[in-house]
Amino acid sequence: MKIRFDILRRKDPESRPYLQSIDYEAASPEETVATALTAFGEEGRFTDTAGNTVEPVRWECSCLQKKCGACAMVINGKPRLACDTFLFEEGKKGRIRLEPLGKFPVVADLIVDRSILFENLKTLQVWSDETVRTDEDNTDSAYEASRCLQCGCCLEVCPNFCAGGSFAGTASFVPQARLLVSLSGAERERVRKSYRKHIYEGCGKSLACRNICPAGINIEQLLIRSNALAIWERVRK
Ligand code: SF4
Ligand code: SF4
Ligand code: FES
Repeated sequence: MKIRFDILRRKDPESRPYLQSIDYEAASPEETVATALTAFGEEGRFTDTAGNTVEPVRWECSCLQKKCGACAMVINGKPRLACDTFLFEEGKKGRIRLEPLGKFPVVADLIVDRSILFENLKTLQVWSDETVRTDEDNTDSAYEASRCLQCGCCLEVCPNFCAGGSFAGTASFVPQARLLVSLSGAERERVRKSYRKHIYEGCGKSLACRNICPAGINIEQLLIRSNALAIWERVRK
């Protein structure tokens, strides 16, 4: 299957972005956007549709198994993982457009600087010195939250998140939810205060993030549970 890739490229953070179109022949149903990008990373192998030799396309990956979140990018207008986007499905119409995630500074081509995610986790103090409680009431929620890849796809669709703002967004709320359901006493109170300030007060409850998570986390349910625990305490069992 022949697919034309339109890739929004940028040499470095200061240079102007440009669109480069490259034709790619997908040979098997196992091939993903990551397969094509790996090929586009080979020096001198491809010529673009304007006849120019394609400089290796820069992008990030690690696991290639939907486990690390590094390959998150905007694919045909939707934030997704390159290693989990299959060419025979996504390329049915013959074109795939790739852009870097839009909520973070671009480093080069499809690589963005997501360090704000980790800065937010530090600001929100998403850790505990206490042993966390696990019982049948919280195990499912804690496990659900622990699957977060910190990919940033949920932030891409969030109308309220901007890097550096006081609202930390879903990528921070999900790890916080894990603590909320597992802690008690003073430690939980600390997390509740931080949740109210950095999540609850900034979230517009639009639920645009509801179905976007590539890890399949049920964000809506976690949000409901976290709001109940952190804000509407009386709802707790
Ligand atoms: S519910 Fe809306 S405002 Fe809140 S985190 Fe999700 S997308 Fe953002
Ligand atoms: S909640 Fe889902 S979409 Fe958001 S950062 Fe975690 S894994 Fe990515
Ligand atoms: S490379 Fe790890 S999730 Fe895609």
